[in-house]
Amino acid sequence: MSKHTQDAPTVTSMTVRSAKEKRKLTMLTAYDYSSATLVDECGIDMILVGDSLGMVMLGRDDTISVTMDEMIHHCRAVTRGTHQALVIADMPFMSYEPGVETAMKNAARLFQEGNARAVKLEGGHEVVPQITALVKAGIPVVGHIGLTPQRVATLGGFKVQGKTADAAIRLIEEAKALETAGAFCIVLEAIPSSIAKRITEAVTVPTIGIGAGKDCDGQVLVFHDLLGLFDRFVPKFVKQYANLREIAAKAITEYKEEVESGAFPAQEHGFTMPKGEEDKLES
Ligand code: KIV
Repeated sequence: MSKHTQDAPTVTSMTVRSAKEKRKLTMLTAYDYSSATLVDECGIDMILVGDSLGMVMLGRDDTISVTMDEMIHHCRAVTRGTHQALVIADMPFMSYEPGVETAMKNAARLFQEGNARAVKLEGGHEVVPQITALVKAGIPVVGHIGLTPQRVATLGGFKVQGKTADAAIRLIEEAKALETAGAFCIVLEAIPSSIAKRITEAVTVPTIGIGAGKDCDGQVLVFHDLLGLFDRFVPKFVKQYANLREIAAKAITEYKEEVESGAFPAQEHGFTMPKGEEDKLES
């Protein structure tokens, strides 16, 4: 693990933008203080406080019901544990779709109350006015196209997008529109690798893929997926680098058994009174 050092440069939206074609970018979600410190210390460029927290942290079926207050709560915890990575907060469902004014108000809350330093919002041409206004106001924006989980109801489920030539052309046009609006990078979720490659070549800002192949400028995964902590479903694009659920289950079972058998706590886990004080109790 490359431990965070005080002199490690802070990642900004400018750093990310200028990394295109120079080095691959890394993004990982985090939703609390402890996981944020871990991700940050490993030198990941961007920490996404994703609205996927609705599923992996709160046990809901989708991201639709995640609220602004929930996002701010988690964002504050993550930013307390982050020193180097750029913290990006997801704008939850209906916090930007109604229009520029709503988007400005809610992005400002994620900045001022959550301490995020960029926001991510889902969608193509329809969110261009919001992105333009946010960037003008000094709020860096990450775009997100392809499978956009907040629109799962109109997409007919968590399905791969851009599988026809027409749909692929639309995605390329959307990416260009987001770039023109001022997005400093664009997440491409669940689209054919060849289309992600075309999009990556068509825009000058970095693309960050999740289920979009190796030719994106960077990759993003959900913390719990990467570590094997969430087993309700594992999408095809996930690589589990560890099975922490199994390791944790073993440790918790051992704890249970030791408490039940009396092996825990041992003497070294307890406290003693100062010399002589115990004797006074006897007298
Ligand atoms: O909410 C999230 O975790 C995301 C990533 C999957 C990109 O949007």
